[in-house]
Amino acid sequence: MKTLKEFLVDARQGHWATGHFNASELDHMRAIVEACKEVGSPAIIGASEGERKHLGLLETVALRDVFRNEFNIPVFLNADHTKSVDAAKQAIDAGFDSVHIDLSAKSFEENTVGTKEIVVYGRAKDSEINIEGELGYLRGESKIQHEKIAVSAQDYTKPEEAARFVEQTGVDRLAIAVGNIHGISLDEPDLDIERIRAIRAIVPEHVALVLHAASGIPDDQIRQAIDAGIANIHINTDLRVAFVSELKKSLAEHLDEAAMYKLDASAIEAMRTVIKSKLDLFGAIGRI
Ligand code: G3H
Ligand code: ZN
Repeated sequence: MKTLKEFLVDARQGHWATGHFNASELDHMRAIVEACKEVGSPAIIGASEGERKHLGLLETVALRDVFRNEFNIPVFLNADHTKSVDAAKQAIDAGFDSVHIDLSAKSFEENTVGTKEIVVYGRAKDSEINIEGELGYLRGESKIQHEKIAVSAQDYTKPEEAARFVEQTGVDRLAIAVGNIHGISLDEPDLDIERIRAIRAIVPEHVALVLHAASGIPDDQIRQAIDAGIANIHINTDLRVAFVSELKKSLAEHLDEAAMYKLDASAIEAMRTVIKSKLDLFGAIGRI
């Protein structure tokens, strides 16, 4: 089976993008793997520090192994938005396939030093590990935003800095800020597609560009971002909203039901539906 790195190269060369979907429950992980199996896409499951604390760090890894064996498709686990070197090392030690070390709130120098430390640490433990760094500042969080969030000029990733960051850290993937905001924002996002092209042109080919915060971004902008060089796209809020709104409906409709596995069945189905439609949008169907 192909490695994550190989899928990312395939995606960049073939002008499609791998889908990265966040999970905080066993049911979410299963929904991601089932949807990917159904349409023939590699499954990339993201768990942020909060999400993996809820799932259990070691439990998440054990579940990945079981899903890999049971479904016989590539299943990769990413320690998403890991905000400290220590937490990143814990995820590597636990057996994650990938770590997103996110020191983007720190200075360029601190970000570079910490990210490089994780690249060196990760490769020493597992030569196949895939490390993602982040440069630029992504606002918001994975929820529906009720206020406007303005992206400021300093938030955007600068192409020359991206080239320096990648060279100094040795990361496999780079998350960039190009007008994307975590969560579903009140006003329509406006991605800077030319900036993606400029970063793609200056960063070495073996480094994959990652678009975070893709919930709520209109389909045509997603297609343009892939065309400009994005190879991996993160979706969380769209899944959370699909799951929770369906669950609320189910709870309201079945007041006497006490079995959660019956109450949440339609919520899991709603999540699978969103995942498959995103994979279709990303051109990720039939890529295994
Ligand atoms: O890392 C996770 C993603 O960037 C999720 O962003 O909640 O806007 O889909 P989103
Ligand atoms: Zn993100």
